[in-house]
Amino acid sequence: MGRILITRPILGHAGEELERAGHTVETWPGPAAPTADDLQTALAGCDGAITMVADRIDASLLAACPRLRVVANMAVGFDNFDLAAGEAAGVWMTNTPGVLAETTADLAFALLMSAARRVAESDRDTRAGGWKNWSPTAFLGVDVHGATLGIIGLGEIGQAMARRGRGFGMRILYCGRAPKPEAEAALDARFVPLEALLRGSDFVSVHVPLTPETRQMIGAQEFGLMKRSGIFVNTARGQIVDQAALVAALTSGRILAAGLDVTEPEPLPADSPLLRLANVTITPHIGSASAATRTKMAAMAAANILAVLGGGEPVNPLNRPRHPR
Ligand code: NAP
Ligand code: GLV
Repeated sequence: MGRILITRPILGHAGEELERAGHTVETWPGPAAPTADDLQTALAGCDGAITMVADRIDASLLAACPRLRVVANMAVGFDNFDLAAGEAAGVWMTNTPGVLAETTADLAFALLMSAARRVAESDRDTRAGGWKNWSPTAFLGVDVHGATLGIIGLGEIGQAMARRGRGFGMRILYCGRAPKPEAEAALDARFVPLEALLRGSDFVSVHVPLTPETRQMIGAQEFGLMKRSGIFVNTARGQIVDQAALVAALTSGRILAAGLDVTEPEPLPADSPLLRLANVTITPHIGSASAATRTKMAAMAAANILAVLGGGEPVNPLNRPRHPR
């Protein structure tokens, strides 16, 4: 029977299920997240791990943890994993697809609404005593209904976002590596090159994974193509955006506002210029954070661990080691 580390306290009965199968489960006590060194030390004698997006799993960690057979990310994104290193070391790596797209799109649309209608900004002002009387010109925003929504990456979350946009009578543009005729028909969406999407959209929402191709894919040139009234939403990964260019675009009025669930780094340092901008709504990487969804993600991660430590293949493999440990 194996030893399993869960790198943060999680919801549901995932830990108990692992224990019922005879495994020993430890949960990183926190409150601080484990550092890279902590992780390496804590995982040294483990057979499996449930990890989070901030836990980097690479060749040097795997070499220092010779018993480790499976690492189950409690996330759909897996840019924190070196899949090739896992394959070479014989370690299965898994994620949690299919359970969090709707919840994450809810948050992406909430950020879009907040940026458009200045929800977080006017809340901050109200709490600071700024609400003196009713004014016909206070906190004017832009309409969401009937506007054009540009989706970069029409995958699971991108499509869930498009459905929300359709519910608000929005016109949907999308870009990606190739057209998706089925999704396009279902969502009445139009495939366009990135440049046309940026020029033609009132709202631009990013839903691609972080890869070498998407790193910094949105920078000064891209913000320069957006409408001055344009609103930028990012719930994918902070590194997809040149953050200094985003700050410049928001400060200069090159774009109107932004809604961000992801930044670089996370958390933002206290002196980050983003934190001083009124026209930005920032949430602390909580896209999938509903109790129901986080419970499903934990159960899915546990199922992947159980499958591998039980001698089988994981349910949601990201890699395929030729010689599993
Ligand atoms: P998904 O279903 O795999 O969709 C990703 C989409 O991006 C696909 O349509 C894919 O196109 C497209 N894409 C990939 N590489 C591209 C490139 N180089 N250029 C243009 N398009 C590209 O993933 P998902 O479940 O929607 O999740 C997307 C990302 O959201 C995750 O990777 C993660 O980083 C982030 N996320 C964040 C949160 C949060 O808490 N904020 C929660 C969940 C996920 P193909 O269909 O052609 O492959
Ligand atoms: C969260 O960021 C995820 O990738 O699931």
